Amino acid sequence: MSIHTPKIEKRVTVSTIRHMKSKEPITMVTAYDALFARLFDGYVEMLLVGDSLNMSFMGKPDTLSADMEMMLYHTKAVCHGAKLPLIVFDMPFGSYTTKEQALENAVRVYRETDAQAVKIEGGRERAEIVRTLTENSVAVVGHIGLMPQFIRSEGGYQVKGKEEEDIQALVEDALEIEAAGAFALVVEGVKSEAAKAVTEAVSIPTIGIGAGVETDGQVLVWSDMFGFFEAFKPKFVKRYMDGASMIREAMDRYVDEVKQRKFPDDEHSY
Ligand code: KIV
Repeated sequence: MSIHTPKIEKRVTVSTIRHMKSKEPITMVTAYDALFARLFDGYVEMLLVGDSLNMSFMGKPDTLSADMEMMLYHTKAVCHGAKLPLIVFDMPFGSYTTKEQALENAVRVYRETDAQAVKIEGGRERAEIVRTLTENSVAVVGHIGLMPQFIRSEGGYQVKGKEEEDIQALVEDALEIEAAGAFALVVEGVKSEAAKAVTEAVSIPTIGIGAGVETDGQVLVWSDMFGFFEAFKPKFVKRYMDGASMIREAMDRYVDEVKQRKFPDDEHSY
């Protein structure tokens, strides 16, 4: 078994992702720094520098206070660390309120980082903004369903696509974002039937998070999936390791050894 061997050998591009629809599930995780981006390099097709870093790394209760400077800094770091995946810059809240502002900020992303695409939250109301970016050669990933940047205006995180009319609304949003030129679509926090309906309706790949198994790919926040983020655990998060316990156990050993003057020993001294 070669479970420790990264499988991706060639740089992933927008066209690689487009061609994966209905052929092979797309894998994506978040990354916020060079250290972990390097570890993830070669495993997943896409890395998302998500504004979720404002919660897991900045310790804020939501993503809304992330800004362009913060996202650019972390994206530069991720681009230094990973060479193969397609790196997506998550446009922070307030950075794409108008077409002009969105374009100006997206141009900064391309000028100042090596990210290949930007992600924008929103349905049909954001279609014009997506169109402006794609018409100006910026690759865009859409994001519909549960949208963390709407948490304050909607009064919390709510699973979407429960009723037939909500599913229809999601499908229409997806079609508008596709028509505006997005090459992929994150579908977050929706009932599996809704994600399936969206995935069947569009010809661009859908990447689900909390959206069941029928999407064209999956994305998870790395600090959730490796068990480092403990503030809360949504139902859709599967923990592939218990990172927090491993860190605590290692800290215990380190502190113990220092207190007992066992570290540094001869092997770790000059
Ligand atoms: O910011 C983020 O990590 C995201 C994912 C939840 C898709 O947008």
